[in-house]
Amino acid sequence: MFIGPPGVGKGTQAERLAAAQGIAKISTGDVLRAAVRHGTPLGRQAKAFMDSGALVPDELVIGMLAERLKADDTKSGYLLDGFPRTLPQAEALETMLVSRGERLDRAVAFEAAADVIVARLSGRRGCPACGKVYHVTNDPSSRGTMCGGCGTALTQRDDDREETIRKRLTVYERETAPVLSYYQARGVLTTLDGTAPIDQVAARVETALGGRRSA
Ligand code: AP5
Repeated sequence: MFIGPPGVGKGTQAERLAAAQGIAKISTGDVLRAAVRHGTPLGRQAKAFMDSGALVPDELVIGMLAERLKADDTKSGYLLDGFPRTLPQAEALETMLVSRGERLDRAVAFEAAADVIVARLSGRRGCPACGKVYHVTNDPSSRGTMCGGCGTALTQRDDDREETIRKRLTVYERETAPVLSYYQARGVLTTLDGTAPIDQVAARVETALGGRRSA
């Protein structure tokens, strides 16, 4: 599982690691944004919370994750990105894992200073078609303002405005930081500095996971 403040690079590293390991990446932010895009009942309930930088209520997100875990692609392991974000979510995950006969290998917590995070999120661009994420200077698309993979025009997330980013950081400190202690107490937490180029952070993740890069 990857945990950390908004914009610290969880999604970027999760994409790489899941591809290298050949396992499913489950990003609750991505699942929620897809629900909003498709106008599902969950998406309609979640949208206002997400736009304001607040967390979506636990019961909605926990139910969503329980559904997602039923898919076949979770059978050979999976990487959670952005879940759990509250203590009730961590406890619900524990219950789900026990009932599935699984255990959490490791919780990797990424850290970066607030000014680094604001710069990263302000420059983030994403592809609405294939989901690939770029940064205007740190990780630009080979095709400028179009996706290097599929050629679709890149867009900026609604919650990547500076005032919403600050709110998300406050919410992280209040709601999610306690989750770190939960995993620390269980001896599965590794904290790493996310303030380095993407390849260097990927190498730190590999070390944190004991050098496992491929399945
Ligand atoms: P979510 O989508 O999970 O957002 P987040 O946690 O705020 O994280 P981000 O996606 O913003 O950042 P990231 O750490 O993945 O960074 P990235 O790799 O993109 O959640 C959105 C909303 O959904 C929440 O606010 C909430 O409302 C709701 N939600 C989701 N899960 C929930 C839950 N469990 N419970 C309740 N509500 C939930 O990188 C950022 C930028 O930096 C990119 O442009 C990237 O190219 C660049 N970058 C990445 N790494 C580096 C690096 N090492 N050096 C330089 N640039 C880098």
